[in-house]
Amino acid sequence: QGAALGWEPLAGRRALVTAGPTHEPVDPVRYLGNRSSGLQGYAIAAALVVLGARVTLVSGPVSLADPAGVNVVRVETGLEMERAVRAALPVDIAVCAAAVADWRVDGISGRKLKKRADMAPPVLTLVPNPDILAILSAPGPERPTLVVGFAAETDDVEVNAVAKRTRKGCDWIVANDVSAGTNVMGGPDNRAVLITEDGIERWPLLPKADLARRLAQRIAARFEAPVM
Ligand code: CTP
Ligand code: CA
Repeated sequence: QGAALGWEPLAGRRALVTAGPTHEPVDPVRYLGNRSSGLQGYAIAAALVVLGARVTLVSGPVSLADPAGVNVVRVETGLEMERAVRAALPVDIAVCAAAVADWRVDGISGRKLKKRADMAPPVLTLVPNPDILAILSAPGPERPTLVVGFAAETDDVEVNAVAKRTRKGCDWIVANDVSAGTNVMGGPDNRAVLITEDGIERWPLLPKADLARRLAQRIAARFEAPVM
């Protein structure tokens, strides 16, 4: 499609996108997860391909078809996602759209936990998952030129997202309001605020595919006019 448009500003660039939730097992039949559908990340991977990038999409469990022309690596857990992301390096562009579970269960049971009327419910001990965005953002020889994170917030979206950009060390943050009623998680549309080194851009409510195209074009512009 990009070729048909005759404009492939990301030709020769490699990109990595994470998408979807992660599932953190409790026992062989149960997991902890979250409400990510993967739609936004899949749309970004597709939009980067259209602009000529070679894209690896590391995806948690979602019910979406592989986007055309994208190298898709499917994983379940946050630890598996971290391993797949490291294996995909080096890249020029990394976009972390996945909703990685912040915690995983410590001491996963090899057997199904049984419910028993005479016993208290199990208590789960959680341990932190690796922060993939922070790993990608850390200085080093394999740091991508441009690292883009997402921020899903329910309150004080812009203030929290600006703080998150500093804390994670990424270059840009795409911040979404996921408070009840916005229908962003799992919904067809997304309203984003893009936070870059140059400031804050407030984008309108857009279908996720349009938001993805806009972000991909913004990324392409960044590579045409590199920051010195
Ligand atoms: N992220 C990640 N690995 C994690 C957690 C988050 O790569 N273990 C990435 C997400 O893909 C997203 C960004 O970090 O690009 C922000 O995720 P978010 O959940 O909004 O932020 P957290 O730092 O986890 O903070 P909190 O959930 O407490 O708001
Ligand atoms: Ca989180």
